Amino acid sequence: MDPGGQGTTTTRLRSAGSVFAEEEAEVLCAAARDGAELEAMTRRREAGEFLEHVVGRVEVMGEQLAVAPGVFVPRRRTALLIAEAVREARARRAPRVLEMCAGAAPVAALVARRVPGARVHAADVDAAALAVARENLPPGAGLHHGDGWAALPPGERFDVIAAVPPYVPRESLALMPREVREHEPLLALLGGQDGLDHVRTLLDGAADRLGPGGVLLLELHRGQCRAAAEAARATGRLGAVDQVLGEDGSTAVLRVRALPDGPAPSSAATRETPSDLVLLRRVRDRMDREHDRPLDVEALAAGVHLSAGHLSRRFREEFGESPYSYLMTRRIERAMTLLRSTDRSVTDICLDVGFSSLGTFSTRFKELVGVPPSTYRGEGAEVLEGMPPCIARRVSRPVRNREAPGTSAS
Ligand SMILES: C[S@@+](CC[C@H](N)C(=O)[O-])C[C@H]1O[C@@H](n2cnc3c(N)ncnc32)[C@H](O)[C@@H]1O
Repeated sequence: MDPGGQGTTTTRLRSAGSVFAEEEAEVLCAAARDGAELEAMTRRREAGEFLEHVVGRVEVMGEQLAVAPGVFVPRRRTALLIAEAVREARARRAPRVLEMCAGAAPVAALVARRVPGARVHAADVDAAALAVARENLPPGAGLHHGDGWAALPPGERFDVIAAVPPYVPRESLALMPREVREHEPLLALLGGQDGLDHVRTLLDGAADRLGPGGVLLLELHRGQCRAAAEAARATGRLGAVDQVLGEDGSTAVLRVRALPDGPAPSSAATRETPSDLVLLRRVRDRMDREHDRPLDVEALAAGVHLSAGHLSRRFREEFGESPYSYLMTRRIERAMTLLRSTDRSVTDICLDVGFSSLGTFSTRFKELVGVPPSTYRGEGAEVLEGMPPCIARRVSRPVRNREAPGTSAS
């Protein structure tokens, strides 16, 4: 596009709040085939869409990869994981490399491009993500659609398994940039209360998916490494664990090796029937993902081959509340985020998060947060403005009335 178009685009992006307006205008002008397309792209960027979604591609370690709206945009910090995966793959002959939670599959794509002879695979629960991964991977790459390890053919093992699982702790979501909350799927971001739900699932099944001498590499926040390393050791079926820290001071890669003599045989109970805790976590993850659907304990229990009564009892024992109460808190947390990050009406948000009655929604909201939804929206922004994130997180977390200071526990 002509320099005039670029100047106008720069001005518009700057007014919309873009810090890198000039660079972004250059990218848009290079990508647009004509003025009409440039106008459409500029509008989408002004509305807060990711630049990468608008132009349909992202640069990762000097390579161009396809991305698409609704699919997680690979981050610069993931260069650390990619470099480790490439190094581990190069150390083996004809390595079998799998990217779990693959999204656009930046790790598998870069390994395929940089390690001759590597056979790459990508797995994801989101079919739209796999469609993008297909564009980034060579013909013949394995693409596996499904939930966690269940996506893979039985018995298939790999030399290098890498993943950027969703690892954002639930309560950190509200503090994330607006464009992330509004334009990336929550499925790709949230990892439960401490961010480690998916990590634990990956660790629980890794011994059965790593070949001899295999290695599992997980991108995490450095503050999560200790708990994740403990979870790896607790499986009793994995070998040495160490971590590599990124230059940004917050990204880390947890490296977990297969046991040198092959996977320890799990006890029959663990191998044939995963422990209750693993099943309960699966149920809780499913409730997180499907929080806007009506609670169906029978269906949840059937999904993990438990009876509904056993599930309800064990859920309460492990997590300190019933499935119903957990779901209500989850919905209210989501509503809190939407109230602060969107202009949607309270009624729309009530329906978005899964309530069918505004009355029940308002009552629950008040019970957990202490004020009605409209008051929360009006007051919250002022109260949190200028507050350090660690304090904001504490004051913006839902508190049950009976847990609030000065109230009785009854
Ligand atoms: C943070 S994104 C990472 C994507 C990609 N690896 C990257 O770095 O750009 C997490 C991905 O995990 C996928 N995911 C979420 N839950 C999953 C599950 N239960 N099983 C498989 N994939 C899942 C999401 O669809 C998303 O593509």
